[in-house]
Amino acid sequence: MKKVTLSLIKADVGSVAGHTAPHPRMFQAVHSVLKGGVKSGVIEDFMTARCGDDISLIMTHDKGENNSAVHKLAWDSFMEAAEEAKKMHLYGAGQDLLAEAFSGNVRGLGPGAAEMTFEERKSEPIIALLADKTEPSAFNLPLSRIFADPYTTTGLIIDKRMHDGFIFDVVDVKAHKKIKISTPEGLHDLLAFIGDITRYAIKRIWSKDKSIGIAAVVSTEKLSLIAGKYVGKDDPVALIRAQSGLPAAGEILQPFAFPAMVSGWMRGSHWGPFYPSAQDDSNPTFFDGPPRIVALGFHIRDGKIQGLEEKPEPGNHIPVDYFKDSSWDYVRRQAMEYAIYIRRHGPFMPAILPPEELEYTTLPEIQKKLQDRWEEAD
Ligand code: 13P
Ligand code: 13P
Ligand code: MG
Ligand code: MG
Repeated sequence: MKKVTLSLIKADVGSVAGHTAPHPRMFQAVHSVLKGGVKSGVIEDFMTARCGDDISLIMTHDKGENNSAVHKLAWDSFMEAAEEAKKMHLYGAGQDLLAEAFSGNVRGLGPGAAEMTFEERKSEPIIALLADKTEPSAFNLPLSRIFADPYTTTGLIIDKRMHDGFIFDVVDVKAHKKIKISTPEGLHDLLAFIGDITRYAIKRIWSKDKSIGIAAVVSTEKLSLIAGKYVGKDDPVALIRAQSGLPAAGEILQPFAFPAMVSGWMRGSHWGPFYPSAQDDSNPTFFDGPPRIVALGFHIRDGKIQGLEEKPEPGNHIPVDYFKDSSWDYVRRQAMEYAIYIRRHGPFMPAILPPEELEYTTLPEIQKKLQDRWEEAD
């Protein structure tokens, strides 16, 4: 079987009236660049998607990960969309494009990338997870549940291709290091790291069944660390292969029935519950949130994308929009209860992030201004 690379590259390059939604003209610009990429043979097929104000480019090709032609195509798409956003004076136009010009690949330039290369199985279902108003470690809890918790994924017990467990690549985003931890035997070591979502993020997950290989990948860029100062958040994306020796679609979605607290809400400085959204319902409208999660399903078929459309053509694919289903209404209601509850703390912890994680702070200036007024405490 032929190897295929699936590249999900995303960026926020501007949105209408706050950090809410990209303008349709920005998608038109992106489509026109990507169609050119199909014509010139850089990519085989593509689909665009969004969560809140972040645009995702989902592309298939045979060029492997970190390929400079594929990454340049993504960069050019975002540049064109940013141009459109600038013309309309949209908010945060060009927000995530940190470099003047493209060089090599998008890593370190601002956009986030989740890419995987695999041999297509007879049927190759994929779930793309797109998040807004949070950061890569927000996937630590759901991914560890999906791939290492038999109370979530019964497949770990009853599917013999999953019974031996999975291997997790964890990155230390501050030290730029990574480590491999094998589960179930290393589960407690894994959780010791990834419970600290200020520093550790799951990057990749591998099946121990050699015929399967890669199972999941997350974008783990940290924009604030790249730029040395806050320039926009690193709203993350993930790709997960499903079924046949891997978690079933339903096992992948189930952890999101728990609206877990994630960091990065409003001004990138608050905790908030993950709110499962349909793609078209992902505009963050309550206090710039709550942090959104969108789940889209499709297939890879002979290097191309297959969704719900009748006549598949590059760019026109219609994914299954899992959280559109009314069964998620109950979770959304719960998430809103938690959102309103934590919001009532205003600028107090635990609603706001610790000082080193705040993306805006006036504290150093206030400390300076009032430094002479401190007296010995009684
Ligand atoms: P697979 O064996 O194809 O993973 O199917 C499992 C399933 O979908 C049961 O719900
Ligand atoms: P984005 O990272 O989605 O642009 O949101 C910025 C923000 O802090 C909104 O409150
Ligand atoms: Mg934004
Ligand atoms: Mg965003």
